[in-house]
Amino acid sequence: MSLRSRITGTGSYAPKKILDNFDLEKMVDTSDEWITERTGIKERRIADSSEAASDLSVEASKRALQSAGLKAKEIDMIIVATVSGDMPIPSTASFLQHKLGAKNAAAFDLNAACSGFIYGLAIADSFIKARGFKKILLVGVEVLSRFTDWEDRSTCILFGDAAGAVVIEPTEKDRGILSTHIYSDGSLWELICLPGGGSKCPSSKETVEKRQHYIKMKGNEIFKVAVRTLEKIVVDTLKANKIKPSELSLLIPHQANLRIIQATAQRLNLSMDRVVVNIDRYGNTSSASIPVALDEAVRTGRICDGDHILLEAFGGGLTWGSALIKW
Ligand code: COA
Repeated sequence: MSLRSRITGTGSYAPKKILDNFDLEKMVDTSDEWITERTGIKERRIADSSEAASDLSVEASKRALQSAGLKAKEIDMIIVATVSGDMPIPSTASFLQHKLGAKNAAAFDLNAACSGFIYGLAIADSFIKARGFKKILLVGVEVLSRFTDWEDRSTCILFGDAAGAVVIEPTEKDRGILSTHIYSDGSLWELICLPGGGSKCPSSKETVEKRQHYIKMKGNEIFKVAVRTLEKIVVDTLKANKIKPSELSLLIPHQANLRIIQATAQRLNLSMDRVVVNIDRYGNTSSASIPVALDEAVRTGRICDGDHILLEAFGGGLTWGSALIKW
């Protein structure tokens, strides 16, 4: 049996503060009915002003390490998928390494927007198979509330804050990550971006006045690309592994919009009881959405040994990707 990598522990954390659709009705011209019908979101979590991405990551990571039965010092690599890290320099992974006391780990961030966790799985899988890494901590974390324009009703209803973490280890058994698939199309970068504060458009009084340090999005165009892309990728991923949709136990999609999730499930003829949905409680938490949903599925007993689990995501870049796992 060839070497595979396997998720051996999961954990997640969401800030305590809940912002529901009725709170948003008081902030912008929107309604609970519109948000629920168009997105499936009822509420989202908002980080406390004292909490940065690394703080959310620490909590999720401790839970993942505990469920894997590992100490932080045993971790040899930390990958943090995020677009809302503590600072541009250093990486949030560096803060996390320090706060956990994971002294023996290489640490870096990766940015593939909402596909970040899938990209991270692909990278971790490769480092385990090709470079002999033994215990990788992969975190998806976002504090998008800091980059959300609370005056823009087309975006502020969507996003939330959370962190999810997994521990990935090698196994000789016929288990684990069966395949990962990652793609991007940079020509579509303008569909979702945060224009201010980078080297192209450094922070200035003008960028702040133009509200360029907030997420800008063409939601309707992304919606169409996402449905088309995800319908194709889920079918291709199963085909690549010679697995029929009927053999799939669970689909864990990125939680961007309930209608996108339903369209993907429909393409595979999956009833919604085989799809993990928590967008109603968290909104879109970008890199964190899949590991949070995975952790909830594990902890509520929705995943059994030997189950085939399909993960898929799309996001800014645009990027998209999928992973098939035999649990
Ligand atoms: N409340 C009430 N009305 C709103 C609104 C809100 N929060 N936001 C937009 N509208 C209005 C628009 O102004 C528009 O009005 P008009 O018809 O008078 O011009 C109408 O609702 C329809 O807008 P549209 O953008 O076409 O709606 P939609 O059905 O595409 O839903 C999204 C909007 C953003 C929910 C949806 O496109 C989406 O989820 N896209 C994907 C976004 C995404 O996943 N982004 C992250 C990338 S990972």
